[in-house]
Amino acid sequence: MPGYATRSATERDLSAIASIYSHAVEHSHATFDLEPPDLAYWTARLDGQHPGDHLLVAVTEEDDVVGYAYSWSFRPRPAYDYTRETSIYLDNSVRGQGIGRMLYPALLQTMAISGVHTAIAAVALPNPSSERLHVACGFEKVGQFAGVGWKFGQWIDMAWYQRMLVNLP
Ligand SMILES: CC(C)(COP(=O)(O)OP(=O)(O)OC[C@H]1O[C@@H](n2cnc3c(N)ncnc32)[C@H](O)[C@@H]1OP(=O)(O)O)[C@@H](O)C(=O)NCCC(=O)NCCS
Repeated sequence: MPGYATRSATERDLSAIASIYSHAVEHSHATFDLEPPDLAYWTARLDGQHPGDHLLVAVTEEDDVVGYAYSWSFRPRPAYDYTRETSIYLDNSVRGQGIGRMLYPALLQTMAISGVHTAIAAVALPNPSSERLHVACGFEKVGQFAGVGWKFGQWIDMAWYQRMLVNLP
């Protein structure tokens, strides 16, 4: 996508990543976090020990971080090892321009190369851009829970999306 690129995150990116997520924690029901996590949380994602765990960023031509996507544990029990949960957040200022369509496939490709069998994503509803992004990136909606989150004084539904990665790259 002109003007933007994706690359693996480095330690220098963590404060920008934390700031993007903190804004979402405080203003959006997209995440069920109620308090922004500290930098150690992001350092753990950067240093993920599992081969299927990745943290990618979308950057401007000046290498400023405008978004990130990561894969992480779906559930801790070891038979889930080849399944990873994914997440993606962009800065408010760059949404709706196709950066999600650039960054998320890059993450899925990286996951597939590292042997991940399937990706799972939880989408708090409503979130039309996230649902569209997941479908556009080959995910299928596999279920929906009613009222599993309580944030900003209301119950929030959550949809599960799944993408098999065996046919990637
Ligand atoms: C969800 C998010 C990552 C999508 O990235 P994006 O760069 O804004 O989306 P893109 O421009 O790449 O568009 C992706 C798809 O969503 C559609 N879309 C984008 N914005 C939309 C909107 N406001 N309403 C409906 N559809 C929208 C696009 O048309 C595209 O679908 P298509 O390819 O079928 O035409 C981004 O908006 C974001 O960071 N949102 C806040 C955090 C969040 O909700 N993260 C996901 C948690 S599950």
